[in-house]
Amino acid sequence: MAARNGPDSFGWVTRTIHWLMALAILGMLGFGLYIEDMEPSLSNLWMYSAHKSVGLILLILVILRLVWHRISPPPPILTDGVALWQLTLARAVHVSLYALLLLVPLTGWIASSATGLDVMIFDRWTVPSIAPVSEAWENTFFALHGLFTKLLMAAIVLHAGGAVLRHLHGDRTLRRMVGR
Ligand code: HEM
Ligand code: HEM
Repeated sequence: MAARNGPDSFGWVTRTIHWLMALAILGMLGFGLYIEDMEPSLSNLWMYSAHKSVGLILLILVILRLVWHRISPPPPILTDGVALWQLTLARAVHVSLYALLLLVPLTGWIASSATGLDVMIFDRWTVPSIAPVSEAWENTFFALHGLFTKLLMAAIVLHAGGAVLRHLHGDRTLRRMVGR
């Protein structure tokens, strides 16, 4: 399989990033809800830092994905036998997914910077602080982080639901992202 996307096919670079990110994001959504309910203490601090580390790596991955799609554009959505409203919805969901894949980690990073604690990737690399130390910023951006994760969940349901429905109707949308 080619690395680059073709006029009607996804190459392995796009597929690998897509499925790696899909798996990690589903895990992070569950993990985020889990840590949200915890009382922070010395014994569970590592979970917050694991969540931040994976979240920042996902931010790097989505940027790489957008750069890669400039170099090797993905094939257009398959249109055969699909109503115009469905195509419009599918495109809107793709744009929303990309926007949320940027907004979710960015708001997490801003809110975490506002706590005044160092934000690190796997206790090894300290990323720059991108917000003033402020309780107001912390509360606002954690609220936005929570809100955007809910919108991301809704977009994923529409997106994965659409892909499965199209597959059940016999078209190649899902197959060209998974198989040959
Ligand atoms: C794609 C990446 C990410 C996903 C899917 C994600 C998901 C979530 C979710 C679902 C929650 C629970 C929110 C709620 O229900 O209010 C959460 C909380 C949290 N997230 Fe993320 N997150 C991501 C990236 C990040 C990043 C990059 C950081 C910081 C650098 C971060 C820091 C936090 C923190 C500290 C909490 C706990 C907030 C609290 O206890 O009030 N997240 N995340
Ligand atoms: C869980 C998180 C997921 C995220 C964040 C996500 C994100 C995306 C994005 C942004 C694209 C657009 C790629 C492009 O630029 O063309 C895409 C394409 C695609 N995704 Fe997902 N996806 C997820 C899960 C899934 C799941 C679970 C399925 C299958 C059930 C799926 C099936 C597909 C297919 C078939 C395409 C190609 C659509 C086309 O041909 O235009 N995705 N995904």
